[in-house]
Amino acid sequence: MLGSYQIHPERIYSASDRRANREVIMSYQLNDVKSPDHELVWHKNFKLIRGIHNPDDVDQIYNLDIRDSDVFVVTYPKSGTIWMQQILRLLDAKGDVTAIRKLNSYFNADLIPWIEVNDNRQTFITAPSPRLRVSHLPYQLMPSALSQKRGKVIYVARNPKDVLVSYFYFHKIATMLETPKDFHDFFEKFMKGEVFGCSWFEHIRTWYSHKDDMNMLFITYEEMIQDLQSAVERISLFLGKELTDEQLTNVVKYSTFNNMKKIPQANYEQISLDLLNHNQGTFMRKGIIGDWKNHFTVAQNERFDEVFQREMKDFPLSFIWDIK
Ligand code: A3P
Repeated sequence: MLGSYQIHPERIYSASDRRANREVIMSYQLNDVKSPDHELVWHKNFKLIRGIHNPDDVDQIYNLDIRDSDVFVVTYPKSGTIWMQQILRLLDAKGDVTAIRKLNSYFNADLIPWIEVNDNRQTFITAPSPRLRVSHLPYQLMPSALSQKRGKVIYVARNPKDVLVSYFYFHKIATMLETPKDFHDFFEKFMKGEVFGCSWFEHIRTWYSHKDDMNMLFITYEEMIQDLQSAVERISLFLGKELTDEQLTNVVKYSTFNNMKKIPQANYEQISLDLLNHNQGTFMRKGIIGDWKNHFTVAQNERFDEVFQREMKDFPLSFIWDIK
């Protein structure tokens, strides 16, 4: 028996059809017109990806009616979105991994879709409750009703040095994003916010500053790495789930990096080469804290720290940069 955040197979079938269409359209666009469709386009102080996001559609997200049962996982890219998707799906299935595996032929993005991707807003309106969605959008583009304490938001934050490294590798495999010339080139782009997601600093600051206006669970990737059991318990409690200790233990077990790495879906293996170049690397890459130390030069690290101090000086939380 699935819990209250049930995945609806009937929705999945239609979503799957739409996905097939969308994929054809997207790969057509990406293959056909290489550079313009990879472009990031400014929209209301944020950058959208041409061909993936429709600015008019994104504009209407703000006015969406939100149900109390809606849950949005909000992240800056590469902060553990897929990890949270896996945890929510396992919580939904009360830790029953066989129930999860039955859905493994479906795209992750159809089971818990991106609200900002083309066509998804329309589907959201009529989808049965509970509606689980993910988003990289900044606060100002998300449904205003969230700030009236409708629905729930889980914001997952990750230390930005590791985000930068993870995002660098993701740019190498994601065809819809410009391939960086080298790490230095990408470092500069990230620091200037010239990537999808824009400024990491602004994303997290703005969302965090509205934390108390909404029903929000703010959790970090590093907390999840260090104590996944407690993290899963917090998430479960926040969502009002009632799982036994054994069920919670199973949620933890099947959402570890090593177990997730074996799932084709978690590696987005079903996504065609037109969109993700799997020869360039895997989506589930390292899953650790502190990989930035293998990439940053001393000068880059100093520059990063300087910008971080300036941008985050009033931010009340500290980050974990390394496992001692
Ligand atoms: P790395 O590239 O550093 O390995 P997102 O889903 O937001 O794009 O985030 C992807 C990052 O989360 C990748 O980081 C990926 O390996 C990591 N990740 C996904 N599942 C994880 C897990 N169960 N444990 C640790 N890291 C995980």
